[in-house]
Amino acid sequence: MDKKEKTAIITGGSRGIGYGIAKQLGADGFSIAILDINAFADYRSNFDALEKAGVDYLYMQGSITEKGDREAFLEKTLAKYGRVDVLVNNAGVAPKVRQDLLEMTEESFDFVVGTNLKGTMFMSQLVARQMLKQEIRGQKRGIIVNITSSSVTVSSVNRAEYCMSKAGLAILTQVYADRLAKDRVFIYEIRPGVIDTDMTRVVHKKYSDLIEAGVFPVARWGYPEDIGLAVSAFCGDKFLYTTGNYIDVDGGFHIKRL
Ligand SMILES: NC(=O)c1ccc[n+]([C@@H]2O[C@H](COP(=O)([O-])OP(=O)(O)OC[C@H]3O[C@@H](n4cnc5c(N)ncnc54)[C@H](O)[C@@H]3O)[C@@H](O)[C@H]2O)c1
Repeated sequence: MDKKEKTAIITGGSRGIGYGIAKQLGADGFSIAILDINAFADYRSNFDALEKAGVDYLYMQGSITEKGDREAFLEKTLAKYGRVDVLVNNAGVAPKVRQDLLEMTEESFDFVVGTNLKGTMFMSQLVARQMLKQEIRGQKRGIIVNITSSSVTVSSVNRAEYCMSKAGLAILTQVYADRLAKDRVFIYEIRPGVIDTDMTRVVHKKYSDLIEAGVFPVARWGYPEDIGLAVSAFCGDKFLYTTGNYIDVDGGFHIKRL
């Protein structure tokens, strides 16, 4: 299939996990459309590397929380590529300050839940509506992959708003899967564990110590490339009788142990 024939939108794809996904889906032959709040110039070297690898991409600086940005971005994507085969809802934020649940501010709740849950909800709605207008290719109209977290089920009392936002995305995955299955739009969820990115920089020492202490069965940091490979698996043609499912990409952290 010609490269331009399949397009993947990746939110928050300028760095970290989103960029790892962009590299992998680019290598899989997708054209990549990225919406991110970061300035293009700040991540120039990442985009140069994509270009060098022969990946066709479009970048727009904007936020998933802004209706105007979401709509302008989809318009640009359709103008350039004509169709959206995959949406990866990766953009997400942690609280600016980690604070005990009993000290959490409404501002922090609104920022985290407003971005991670509300932003993803309306980005998904916009792109799902577009996917429904598209003809079925192979056995599907489109695929949506939500990047959630181990925090869907693991409590962190000093960033509870993050856990709540990600738990919300788990049921978002289910309701979108339920609603869109008959139209052959498939929805999957990936729950990363501890991944080495800017987001975990502030807790790098803490997590490195936990890895050293054997808390994670596969005793190493996860990398954006680990998530890219899992997204790639969902975006091929291997899960066409599967929707609304999640997979942990967490080095076995989800396993209950004695
Ligand atoms: N790093 C981890 O250990 C880890 C673990 C589990 C889940 N996750 C999730 O993976 C995703 C990526 O995280 P990361 O670790 O790469 O962090 P990161 O901070 O490096 O990347 C997040 C990206 O999202 C972008 N972004 C933030 N708000 C946005 C908005 N409103 N609109 C558009 N883009 C926006 C940022 O600019 C950034 O490029 C997040 O959803 C995060 O919650 C990360």
